[in-house]
Amino acid sequence: MFAVRFDRFGPPEVLALGEFPEPHAGRGEVRVRVRAAGVSPVDLALRAGRSPAAERLALPHVPGVDAAGVVDEVGPDVTGTAVGDEVFGAVDVSRLGGASAEFAVLAFWTAKPASMPWEEAGASGTSVETATRALDLLDVREGTTLLIDGAAGGVGSVAVQLAIARGARVIGTGSPANQAFVARLGATPVTYGRGLPERVRGLDEGPVDRALDVAGAGSLPELVALTGTAASVVTLADFSGPRLGVRLSTGEFGGEPGGRHGLAAAAALFAEGRFRLPVQEAFPLAQAARAHAFAAEGPRRGKIVLTVPGG
Ligand SMILES: NC(=O)c1ccc[n+]([C@@H]2O[C@H](COP(=O)([O-])OP(=O)(O)OC[C@H]3O[C@@H](n4cnc5c(N)ncnc54)[C@H](OP(=O)(O)O)[C@@H]3O)[C@@H](O)[C@H]2O)c1
Repeated sequence: MFAVRFDRFGPPEVLALGEFPEPHAGRGEVRVRVRAAGVSPVDLALRAGRSPAAERLALPHVPGVDAAGVVDEVGPDVTGTAVGDEVFGAVDVSRLGGASAEFAVLAFWTAKPASMPWEEAGASGTSVETATRALDLLDVREGTTLLIDGAAGGVGSVAVQLAIARGARVIGTGSPANQAFVARLGATPVTYGRGLPERVRGLDEGPVDRALDVAGAGSLPELVALTGTAASVVTLADFSGPRLGVRLSTGEFGGEPGGRHGLAAAAALFAEGRFRLPVQEAFPLAQAARAHAFAAEGPRRGKIVLTVPGG
């Protein structure tokens, strides 16, 4: 099959379209002919050799953890999904990639609503799973006031919408350039960085019940101060969290229960017109190097996606 691959760690230019052995669906998995695949921060970190997990990669490696496509192979023990179904989801995270290719094996997925564009579906999997897992851990529900630090990115833009769908009120941080974007997602926008507690208190939104750190930019002490307790804060990206008593949710690497059920919920919300996956930019698969370079620049407005025309 054709796939984006890299044979050595390095800058985006190490990515090239080439041949790669076809993967096959294992137990509980499906294989899709890919129509779109997301580009995520973890893909950039692995390609650059910056992630500790890079040590586990056998090169050459195919990046990408999210994909949408048409099922063409169904593994043992899979029920409710058949060859020809249009689905979106994500690879088994322990494989650290495999989605930026002609075929990808998904470990969790849901049916793609017919009206959901391939680009949105292809970039949704781990953002929806991660946001759902974090909102579950924080017990976000009707009436919760939630602060999301890093609301304009792939995970944050999803978390804002899913929290609002649960009946929460959301305050979302973004760069000055992203204030209107965060507001369009449905959150009360505020700029991130030094002085955040004072700005949040100045919004007159009442007490902050819960805080989700998506950015990992060092704001945990301020988020704890705003909510009043470390137990009301979860971080997805700051490894100093546990030292402060803040839960660090690292997903299935840590063996904790995931937010996979969130995919079906997000698809249902999409069909009701209550959820969109913001796609900042889509690139053809052959331009994966450009997509990775673009994804390394801010400001972020949702996801970067690779498309496979015609699938
Ligand atoms: N633990 C997990 O299971 C898990 C899963 C997925 C992702 N992650 C991690 O979560 C992080 C975010 O992922 P993502 O896909 O949402 O990334 P992304 O799309 O690149 O978005 C990052 C966001 O962080 C914001 N940001 C930048 N500097 C900031 C600061 N100083 N304070 C607050 N926010 C700031 C950016 O806002 P502007 O664009 O407005 O500058 C941007 O919206 C990454 O580190 C990723 O590796 C963890």
